[in-house]
Amino acid sequence: MLEPRVLDEVPTPAAVVDLARMRANLDRMAGYAAQQSLALRPHTKTHKSPELAREQLQRGAAGVTVATIREAEVMASVCHDILLAYPPVGPGKVERLLALPAHVRITVALDSREALEMIARDAARAGHEVGVLIELDLGMHRVGVQDAAAAVALARSAEDLEGVAYRGVTFYPGHVREPVDQQAPALARLDEDLARFIEALDREGLAPGTVSGGSTPTAFASHTVGGLTEIRPGTYIFNDRTTAETGACAWEDCAYTVLATVVSTAVRGQAVVDAGSKALTREELRAAGGGFGALADRREVTVKGLSEEHGLLDLTSTDWRPRIGERVRIVPNHVCVSVNLHDRVRGVEGDEVVTGWSVAARGWAP
Ligand SMILES: Cc1ncc(COP(=O)(O)O)c(C=O)c1O
Repeated sequence: MLEPRVLDEVPTPAAVVDLARMRANLDRMAGYAAQQSLALRPHTKTHKSPELAREQLQRGAAGVTVATIREAEVMASVCHDILLAYPPVGPGKVERLLALPAHVRITVALDSREALEMIARDAARAGHEVGVLIELDLGMHRVGVQDAAAAVALARSAEDLEGVAYRGVTFYPGHVREPVDQQAPALARLDEDLARFIEALDREGLAPGTVSGGSTPTAFASHTVGGLTEIRPGTYIFNDRTTAETGACAWEDCAYTVLATVVSTAVRGQAVVDAGSKALTREELRAAGGGFGALADRREVTVKGLSEEHGLLDLTSTDWRPRIGERVRIVPNHVCVSVNLHDRVRGVEGDEVVTGWSVAARGWAP
Protein backbone atom coordinates (compact mmCIF):
# COMPACT_ATOMS: atom_id res chain seq x y z
CA MET A 1 0.00 0.00 0.00
CA LEU A 2 1.32 3.42 -0.97
CA GLU A 3 1.76 5.79 1.99
CA PRO A 4 -0.29 9.00 1.73
CA ARG A 5 2.02 11.99 1.21
CA VAL A 6 -0.02 14.53 3.12
CA LEU A 7 -1.91 14.33 6.41
CA ASP A 8 -5.23 15.15 4.74
CA GLU A 9 -5.06 11.83 2.91
CA VAL A 10 -4.23 9.66 5.93
CA PRO A 11 -7.13 7.40 6.94
CA THR A 12 -8.20 7.98 10.54
CA PRO A 13 -7.74 7.30 13.36
CA ALA A 14 -3.97 7.39 12.90
CA ALA A 15 -0.91 7.81 15.09
CA VAL A 16 1.14 10.78 13.93
CA VAL A 17 4.48 12.10 15.17
CA ASP A 18 5.79 15.58 14.51
CA LEU A 19 9.41 14.75 13.68
CA ALA A 20 10.87 18.17 14.51
CA ARG A 21 9.33 18.05 17.98
CA MET A 22 10.46 14.47 18.54
CA ARG A 23 14.04 15.30 17.52
CA ALA A 24 14.07 18.31 19.82
CA ASN A 25 12.83 16.13 22.71
CA LEU A 26 15.55 13.57 21.99
CA ASP A 27 18.26 16.22 21.75
CA ARG A 28 17.17 17.94 24.97
CA MET A 29 17.34 14.75 27.03
CA ALA A 30 20.59 13.57 25.44
CA GLY A 31 22.11 17.00 26.12
CA TYR A 32 21.01 17.00 29.75
CA ALA A 33 22.34 13.48 30.39
CA ALA A 34 25.68 14.31 28.78
CA GLN A 35 25.98 17.56 30.72
CA GLN A 36 25.30 15.76 34.01
CA SER A 37 27.53 12.77 33.13
CA LEU A 38 24.56 10.44 33.49
CA ALA A 39 24.19 7.44 31.23
CA LEU A 40 20.89 7.62 29.33
CA ARG A 41 19.07 4.32 28.90
CA PRO A 42 15.70 5.29 27.38
CA HIS A 43 12.73 3.09 28.13
CA THR A 44 11.54 1.82 24.75
CA LYS A 45 8.08 0.81 26.01
CA THR A 46 6.95 4.27 24.88
CA HIS A 47 7.67 3.83 21.16
CA LYS A 48 8.29 0.06 20.81
CA SER A 49 10.17 0.73 17.62
CA PRO A 50 13.78 -0.19 16.74
CA GLU A 51 13.96 2.77 14.33
CA LEU A 52 13.39 5.17 17.21
CA ALA A 53 15.71 3.27 19.56
CA ARG A 54 18.37 3.80 16.91
CA GLU A 55 17.71 7.55 17.02
CA GLN A 56 18.27 7.43 20.78
CA LEU A 57 21.46 5.39 20.48
CA GLN A 58 22.81 7.71 17.79
CA ARG A 59 22.41 10.55 20.29
CA GLY A 60 24.60 8.76 22.82
CA ALA A 61 22.24 6.50 24.75
CA ALA A 62 24.25 3.85 26.59
CA GLY A 63 21.67 1.18 25.86
CA VAL A 64 17.93 0.76 26.13
CA THR A 65 15.41 -0.31 28.75
CA VAL A 66 12.60 -2.75 27.99
CA ALA A 67 9.66 -4.08 29.97
CA THR A 68 8.91 -7.27 28.06
CA ILE A 69 10.87 -10.08 26.47
CA ARG A 70 9.22 -9.18 23.17
CA GLU A 71 10.65 -5.65 23.45
CA ALA A 72 14.08 -7.14 24.24
CA GLU A 73 13.89 -9.37 21.16
CA VAL A 74 12.93 -6.48 18.90
CA MET A 75 15.45 -4.02 20.35
CA ALA A 76 18.27 -6.58 20.07
CA SER A 77 18.29 -5.86 16.33
CA VAL A 78 19.67 -2.37 16.99
CA CYS A 79 21.08 -2.41 20.53
CA HIS A 80 23.64 -4.60 22.25
CA ASP A 81 23.06 -3.42 25.83
CA ILE A 82 19.57 -4.06 27.16
CA LEU A 83 18.09 -3.66 30.62
CA LEU A 84 14.96 -5.70 31.22
CA ALA A 85 13.36 -3.65 33.99
CA TYR A 86 11.06 -6.49 34.89
CA PRO A 87 11.70 -9.91 36.46
CA PRO A 88 11.45 -12.62 33.78
CA VAL A 89 9.30 -14.99 35.80
CA GLY A 90 7.02 -17.44 34.00
CA PRO A 91 7.25 -20.13 31.33
CA GLY A 92 9.71 -19.50 28.53
CA LYS A 93 10.87 -16.05 29.61
CA VAL A 94 14.42 -16.76 30.73
CA GLU A 95 14.75 -19.16 27.82
CA ARG A 96 13.88 -16.38 25.36
CA LEU A 97 16.21 -13.96 27.13
CA LEU A 98 19.08 -16.42 26.83
CA ALA A 99 18.27 -16.93 23.14
CA LEU A 100 19.03 -13.26 22.36
CA PRO A 101 22.10 -12.81 20.14
CA ALA A 102 25.29 -13.60 22.06
CA HIS A 103 26.71 -10.08 21.64
CA VAL A 104 23.78 -8.54 23.57
CA ARG A 105 24.68 -7.64 27.14
CA ILE A 106 21.60 -8.37 29.22
CA THR A 107 20.79 -6.99 32.65
CA VAL A 108 17.65 -7.79 34.58
CA ALA A 109 15.99 -5.93 37.45
CA LEU A 110 14.58 -8.13 40.20
CA ASP A 111 13.63 -8.10 43.85
CA SER A 112 13.37 -11.76 44.87
CA ARG A 113 15.65 -14.69 45.57
CA GLU A 114 13.26 -16.88 43.54
CA ALA A 115 13.63 -14.82 40.35
CA LEU A 116 17.40 -14.66 40.85
CA GLU A 117 17.73 -18.41 41.24
CA MET A 118 15.57 -19.16 38.19
CA ILE A 119 17.71 -16.93 36.00
CA ALA A 120 20.99 -18.20 37.50
CA ARG A 121 20.02 -21.84 37.02
CA ASP A 122 19.06 -21.50 33.35
CA ALA A 123 21.91 -19.11 32.51
CA ALA A 124 24.55 -21.32 34.14
CA ARG A 125 23.17 -24.34 32.31
CA ALA A 126 23.41 -22.45 29.02
CA GLY A 127 26.88 -21.12 29.82
CA HIS A 128 25.62 -17.50 29.85
CA GLU A 129 25.91 -14.68 32.33
CA VAL A 130 22.97 -12.36 33.01
CA GLY A 131 23.57 -9.08 34.81
CA VAL A 132 21.40 -8.27 37.81
CA LEU A 133 20.25 -4.98 39.30
CA ILE A 134 18.58 -5.20 42.69
CA GLU A 135 15.27 -3.34 42.52
CA LEU A 136 14.73 -0.95 45.44
CA ASP A 137 11.37 0.42 46.56
CA LEU A 138 12.02 4.13 47.07
CA GLY A 139 8.41 5.12 47.53
CA MET A 140 6.44 3.84 44.56
CA HIS A 141 5.42 0.66 46.39
CA ARG A 142 5.04 -1.37 43.22
CA VAL A 143 8.09 -3.62 43.34
CA GLY A 144 11.46 -3.46 45.08
CA VAL A 145 13.15 -4.73 48.23
CA GLN A 146 11.95 -2.92 51.30
CA ASP A 147 15.12 -2.45 53.31
CA ALA A 148 18.91 -2.37 53.09
CA ALA A 149 19.34 -5.80 54.68
CA ALA A 150 17.22 -7.38 51.92
CA ALA A 151 19.18 -5.49 49.25
CA VAL A 152 22.48 -6.69 50.72
CA ALA A 153 21.29 -10.30 50.94
CA LEU A 154 20.09 -10.34 47.34
CA ALA A 155 23.19 -8.58 46.04
CA ARG A 156 25.36 -11.08 47.90
CA SER A 157 23.46 -13.99 46.31
CA ALA A 158 23.84 -12.40 42.88
CA GLU A 159 27.60 -12.17 43.51
CA ASP A 160 27.82 -15.77 44.63
CA LEU A 161 25.59 -17.57 42.14
CA GLU A 162 26.93 -18.86 38.87
CA GLY A 163 25.10 -17.61 35.75
CA VAL A 164 24.40 -14.14 37.11
CA ALA A 165 26.53 -11.07 37.81
CA TYR A 166 25.67 -8.39 40.36
CA ARG A 167 25.79 -5.02 38.57
CA GLY A 168 24.10 -2.61 40.97
CA VAL A 169 20.69 -1.26 41.94
CA THR A 170 17.67 0.22 40.25
CA PHE A 171 14.50 2.04 41.24
CA TYR A 172 11.66 3.83 39.50
CA PRO A 173 10.44 7.13 40.92
CA GLY A 174 6.99 6.73 39.36
CA HIS A 175 5.34 8.02 42.54
CA VAL A 176 6.84 11.50 42.01
CA ARG A 177 4.05 13.02 39.91
CA GLU A 178 3.86 16.49 41.41
CA PRO A 179 4.33 19.50 39.14
CA VAL A 180 8.07 19.84 38.54
CA ASP A 181 8.36 23.00 40.65
CA GLN A 182 6.96 21.11 43.66
CA GLN A 183 9.03 17.92 43.41
CA ALA A 184 12.00 18.99 45.56
CA PRO A 185 10.73 17.52 48.89
CA ALA A 186 9.90 14.13 47.31
CA LEU A 187 13.25 14.05 45.54
CA ALA A 188 15.10 14.99 48.75
CA ARG A 189 13.41 12.04 50.52
CA LEU A 190 14.33 9.77 47.66
CA ASP A 191 17.92 11.01 47.76
CA GLU A 192 18.17 10.18 51.49
CA ASP A 193 16.59 6.74 51.11
CA LEU A 194 18.82 5.87 48.17
CA ALA A 195 21.92 6.99 50.10
CA ARG A 196 20.99 4.61 52.94
CA PHE A 197 20.78 1.66 50.55
CA ILE A 198 24.06 2.57 48.83
CA GLU A 199 25.91 3.03 52.15
CA ALA A 200 24.72 -0.37 53.40
CA LEU A 201 25.83 -2.08 50.20
CA ASP A 202 29.14 -0.21 50.31
CA ARG A 203 29.80 -1.34 53.89
CA GLU A 204 29.37 -4.96 52.79
CA GLY A 205 31.75 -4.61 49.86
CA LEU A 206 28.83 -4.55 47.41
CA ALA A 207 29.11 -0.98 46.11
CA PRO A 208 26.70 -0.77 43.14
CA GLY A 209 28.49 -0.14 39.84
CA THR A 210 25.19 0.98 38.33
CA VAL A 211 22.54 3.06 40.10
CA SER A 212 19.68 3.28 37.61
CA GLY A 213 16.67 5.53 38.13
CA GLY A 214 14.79 8.32 36.47
CA SER A 215 11.46 8.99 34.81
CA THR A 216 10.19 11.66 32.47
CA PRO A 217 8.51 13.88 35.11
CA THR A 218 11.71 13.91 37.24
CA ALA A 219 14.25 13.67 34.41
CA PHE A 220 15.67 17.17 34.49
CA ALA A 221 16.07 17.03 38.28
CA SER A 222 18.04 13.77 38.17
CA HIS A 223 21.25 15.58 39.16
CA THR A 224 19.68 16.33 42.57
CA VAL A 225 19.62 12.62 43.43
CA GLY A 226 23.07 11.64 44.68
CA GLY A 227 24.70 8.45 43.45
CA LEU A 228 22.65 8.06 40.24
CA THR A 229 24.71 6.77 37.33
CA GLU A 230 21.96 6.38 34.72
CA ILE A 231 18.43 7.54 33.91
CA ARG A 232 15.66 5.71 32.08
CA PRO A 233 13.02 8.18 30.86
CA GLY A 234 10.73 6.81 28.16
CA THR A 235 7.80 9.17 27.65
CA TYR A 236 10.09 12.13 26.88
CA ILE A 237 10.53 11.11 23.23
CA PHE A 238 6.89 12.08 22.49
CA ASN A 239 5.60 13.61 25.73
CA ASP A 240 1.86 13.72 26.40
CA ARG A 241 -0.87 15.66 28.13
CA THR A 242 0.13 14.36 31.56
CA THR A 243 3.76 15.37 31.04
CA ALA A 244 2.71 18.84 29.91
CA GLU A 245 0.31 19.23 32.84
CA THR A 246 3.13 18.45 35.32
CA GLY A 247 5.32 21.06 33.63
CA ALA A 248 7.94 18.50 32.61
CA CYS A 249 7.49 19.69 29.02
CA ALA A 250 5.76 22.52 27.18
CA TRP A 251 2.51 21.83 25.33
CA GLU A 252 4.43 22.49 22.10
CA ASP A 253 6.79 19.62 23.01
CA CYS A 254 4.01 17.04 22.58
CA ALA A 255 5.16 15.28 19.42
CA TYR A 256 2.59 12.49 19.24
CA THR A 257 -1.04 12.97 18.34
CA VAL A 258 -3.91 10.83 17.21
CA LEU A 259 -5.28 12.18 13.95
CA ALA A 260 -9.07 11.93 13.86
CA THR A 261 -12.01 13.05 11.74
CA VAL A 262 -15.16 14.79 12.97
CA VAL A 263 -18.05 12.43 12.18
CA SER A 264 -20.98 14.02 14.03
CA THR A 265 -22.01 17.37 15.48
CA ALA A 266 -25.65 16.44 16.03
CA VAL A 267 -25.64 16.70 19.79
CA ARG A 268 -25.37 20.25 21.14
CA GLY A 269 -22.10 21.22 22.85
CA GLN A 270 -20.02 18.42 21.41
CA ALA A 271 -18.42 17.02 18.29
CA VAL A 272 -17.74 13.35 17.80
CA VAL A 273 -14.50 12.09 16.23
CA ASP A 274 -13.53 8.63 15.00
CA ALA A 275 -10.87 8.12 17.70
CA GLY A 276 -12.26 6.35 20.73
CA SER A 277 -10.80 4.27 23.52
CA LYS A 278 -9.29 1.90 20.94
CA ALA A 279 -7.11 4.73 19.58
CA LEU A 280 -6.56 6.95 22.64
CA THR A 281 -7.03 4.57 25.62
CA ARG A 282 -9.20 5.35 28.60
CA GLU A 283 -6.41 6.67 30.81
CA GLU A 284 -7.61 9.35 33.18
CA LEU A 285 -5.65 12.58 33.50
CA ARG A 286 -3.78 12.55 36.82
CA ALA A 287 -3.98 16.33 36.95
CA ALA A 288 -6.70 18.95 36.85
CA GLY A 289 -8.50 19.38 33.53
CA GLY A 290 -10.14 16.00 33.14
CA GLY A 291 -10.99 14.16 29.96
CA PHE A 292 -9.04 11.65 27.91
CA GLY A 293 -7.01 13.98 25.73
CA ALA A 294 -7.00 17.50 24.28
CA LEU A 295 -6.65 18.99 20.81
CA ALA A 296 -3.05 19.87 19.97
CA ASP A 297 -3.95 23.28 18.54
CA ARG A 298 -6.92 23.98 20.85
CA ARG A 299 -5.81 22.78 24.24
CA GLU A 300 -9.06 23.95 25.85
CA VAL A 301 -11.01 21.40 23.79
CA THR A 302 -10.85 18.11 25.67
CA VAL A 303 -12.11 14.62 24.93
CA LYS A 304 -14.87 14.43 27.52
CA GLY A 305 -16.13 10.94 26.75
CA LEU A 306 -15.18 7.80 24.90
CA SER A 307 -16.78 4.77 23.35
CA GLU A 308 -14.62 2.23 21.59
CA GLU A 309 -14.65 4.12 18.28
CA HIS A 310 -16.19 7.47 19.29
CA GLY A 311 -14.42 10.35 21.00
CA LEU A 312 -16.63 13.14 22.33
CA LEU A 313 -15.03 16.59 22.07
CA ASP A 314 -16.29 19.09 24.63
CA LEU A 315 -17.12 22.36 22.83
CA THR A 316 -18.39 24.25 25.87
CA SER A 317 -15.10 26.21 26.34
CA THR A 318 -14.61 27.24 22.73
CA ASP A 319 -16.26 29.24 19.94
CA TRP A 320 -14.89 26.76 17.44
CA ARG A 321 -17.64 24.83 15.66
CA PRO A 322 -16.12 22.04 13.58
CA ARG A 323 -17.71 20.88 10.38
CA ILE A 324 -18.30 17.24 9.52
CA GLY A 325 -15.16 15.85 7.94
CA GLU A 326 -12.83 18.32 9.67
CA ARG A 327 -9.59 16.78 10.93
CA VAL A 328 -8.21 17.20 14.43
CA ARG A 329 -5.07 16.05 16.22
CA ILE A 330 -5.49 14.82 19.78
CA VAL A 331 -2.74 14.71 22.41
CA PRO A 332 -3.50 11.65 24.57
CA ASN A 333 -3.20 11.68 28.34
CA HIS A 334 -0.69 8.83 28.35
CA VAL A 335 1.19 8.38 25.10
CA CYS A 336 2.76 4.94 25.73
CA VAL A 337 -0.57 3.14 25.91
CA SER A 338 -1.94 4.98 22.89
CA VAL A 339 1.08 4.06 20.75
CA ASN A 340 0.58 0.45 21.79
CA LEU A 341 -2.88 0.48 20.17
CA HIS A 342 -1.55 1.35 16.72
CA ASP A 343 0.15 -0.86 14.13
CA ARG A 344 1.93 2.00 12.47
CA VAL A 345 3.05 5.54 13.21
CA ARG A 346 3.49 8.26 10.59
CA GLY A 347 6.25 10.82 10.88
CA VAL A 348 5.32 14.27 9.60
CA GLU A 349 7.06 17.52 8.84
CA GLY A 350 4.31 20.11 8.90
CA ASP A 351 1.45 18.49 7.00
CA GLU A 352 3.71 16.31 4.90
CA VAL A 353 4.02 12.61 5.72
CA VAL A 354 7.73 11.93 5.24
CA THR A 355 8.17 8.56 6.95
CA GLY A 356 6.46 5.82 8.88
CA TRP A 357 7.39 2.92 11.12
CA SER A 358 5.68 -0.07 12.63
CA VAL A 359 5.15 -0.44 16.37
CA ALA A 360 7.18 -3.60 16.11
CA ALA A 361 7.45 -4.61 19.76
CA ARG A 362 3.71 -4.69 20.51
CA GLY A 363 2.35 -7.80 22.17
CA TRP A 364 4.14 -10.53 24.05
CA ALA A 365 4.66 -13.32 21.55
CA PRO A 366 8.15 -14.02 20.18
C1 LIG B 1 10.87 0.71 35.45
C2 LIG B 1 10.61 1.92 34.63
N1 LIG B 1 11.64 2.71 34.26
C3 LIG B 1 11.46 3.81 33.50
C4 LIG B 1 10.19 4.19 33.09
C5 LIG B 1 10.02 5.43 32.24
O1 LIG B 1 9.33 6.45 32.88
P1 LIG B 1 8.50 7.57 32.08
O2 LIG B 1 7.34 6.87 31.47
O3 LIG B 1 8.11 8.55 33.13
O4 LIG B 1 9.39 8.14 31.07
C6 LIG B 1 9.09 3.41 33.47
C7 LIG B 1 7.73 3.79 33.07
O5 LIG B 1 6.76 3.13 33.30
C8 LIG B 1 9.30 2.25 34.26
O6 LIG B 1 8.29 1.45 34.64
